[in-house]
Amino acid sequence: MIVRKLRTVHTVADVRAAVAAWHAAGEKVAFVPTMGNLHDGHLSLTKLVAEPDARVVMSIFVNPTQFGPTEDFAAYPRTLVEDTALLSAAGTVDLLFVPDTGEIYPFGVQGAARVTLPFLRRELDAASRPGHFDGVASVVARLLNIVGADAVVLGQKDYQQFLLIIGEWLSIRNPEKLSAIAAERKPRMLLLPYGIPICIGTIGYFCYQNMI
Ligand code: PAF
Repeated sequence: MIVRKLRTVHTVADVRAAVAAWHAAGEKVAFVPTMGNLHDGHLSLTKLVAEPDARVVMSIFVNPTQFGPTEDFAAYPRTLVEDTALLSAAGTVDLLFVPDTGEIYPFGVQGAARVTLPFLRRELDAASRPGHFDGVASVVARLLNIVGADAVVLGQKDYQQFLLIIGEWLSIRNPEKLSAIAAERKPRMLLLPYGIPICIGTIGYFCYQNMI
């Protein structure tokens, strides 16, 4: 069992160096992207994936590109001190990546390349939240590229977002494995095109162990 001491980093270079060192030592790395303001749902994801012998990276980044003009990006709760204390007490995360906006969007938010999801133009919340899904897809693509984990773990609380990320995943053929875990949902597993297993439900933990 891995003994974890939480370390916080702010730069892409530091995340990549940590992940490269774990990979060089033959260790697997799981990634949990978040916008912070952590609660039990986030912690349960990290607890589930920390039990196998994988290193766990979590990001906290309040992503401006997924907020619409009428949504209050500035008011989104930023609770880094409390979040760090929670994670330290849980002992389930090795590396906390807290970038600033310039680290994620080095050419500025307006000038940044975007991922667009043509299959999600009018469906779900896309009609009432124009640009939201593209903003989520854009930041998730960036974070995946930065962290270079072996697996990514998502909750299903926001089910639309979960579907969106699966779609993006399949569309750009990410090499990482994707595990979605929601303890409160009925366990089941979907096998999607391209042979990518998506583990859903409490069984997600066991799928995750086999996948990673
Ligand atoms: O669900 C969230 O916390 C965010 O939408 C995500 C996936 C971290 C992207 O900013």
